[in-house]
Amino acid sequence: MRLVVLGSAAGGGFPQWNCRCPVCTLAWDNDPRVRRRTQTSVAVSADGERWALVNCAPEILSQIQAVPALHPRGGRRQSPVASVLLTNADIDHVAGLLSLREAQPFRLFATSGIHDVLRANSVFDVLADTIVERRPVALGTSFELVEGVSATIFPVPGKIALYLETREEADTGGLVTDREGEQTIGVELTAGGARVLFIPGCATMTNALRDRLQGADAVFFDGTLWRDDEMALAGVGSKTGRRMGHMSMSGGEGSLAALAGLDIGRRIYVHINNTNPVLIDGSPERVAANRAGWEIAEDGMEIVL
Ligand code: MLT
Ligand code: MN
Ligand code: ZN
Repeated sequence: MRLVVLGSAAGGGFPQWNCRCPVCTLAWDNDPRVRRRTQTSVAVSADGERWALVNCAPEILSQIQAVPALHPRGGRRQSPVASVLLTNADIDHVAGLLSLREAQPFRLFATSGIHDVLRANSVFDVLADTIVERRPVALGTSFELVEGVSATIFPVPGKIALYLETREEADTGGLVTDREGEQTIGVELTAGGARVLFIPGCATMTNALRDRLQGADAVFFDGTLWRDDEMALAGVGSKTGRRMGHMSMSGGEGSLAALAGLDIGRRIYVHINNTNPVLIDGSPERVAANRAGWEIAEDGMEIVL
């Protein structure tokens, strides 16, 4: 199995267009300790010929341009991208679909819940049903994502997309940020005996999830924030990680602690928010994450298993 990290940043990218938090400021100033990142998506393939995208970031065009294996070849209109799988309906994971509208057939996999959100946003009808096949997949089932790669999707604690929050709060009197259901999922990818987990958003660790992570060859996990109150500390907002449906890396309930002791081949943080100090080479937070066995994904990173 080949996996290429097309983008590794959380919603907003790095640096974010309107942000001068301490970490973004380093990027705007071209400090060599940080590298720019686009929003999170990975490409996966068993044979290097046919590829699936897991999530489709707003920067999909530049992401494809940057990865030769994803360039069109062998015809006037062609793409090695055979399918796309969505892990939620947030902008950072779906907006790139609008750039895949050039009458190119591919299969679009998601839960029924996520398909419903796309259906309710008519701009996505630019992907005509006659060309792009929208396939609902049930939680817990396995399917062929692309030739030679099978995927199983499973619910992880999380919330609905940011732009739906107001409606849910009005309809139900509150927002649940760690609900398990069809709106936030993780995906297990298997090919040629390798098993990889991709979980870019996760509100809290559960025993079921820990069991699933155990023994994986690689885990790509929610690296949004180093600490829960990071946005407030950076002076760029009041939302906590908990409120956004993202567990932090550090702390007693953080992912460093939650995954410690599990037998995992490679543990890699993706969906890293621009405020997160692990983005800085040599920062105490980066050193602590590396010491705990974690890698910090960068755009263009490739793993072969
Ligand atoms: C998130 O992961 O919390 C979202 O991507 C936020 C956003 O849509 O900007
Ligand atoms: Mn996101
Ligand atoms: Zn920032």
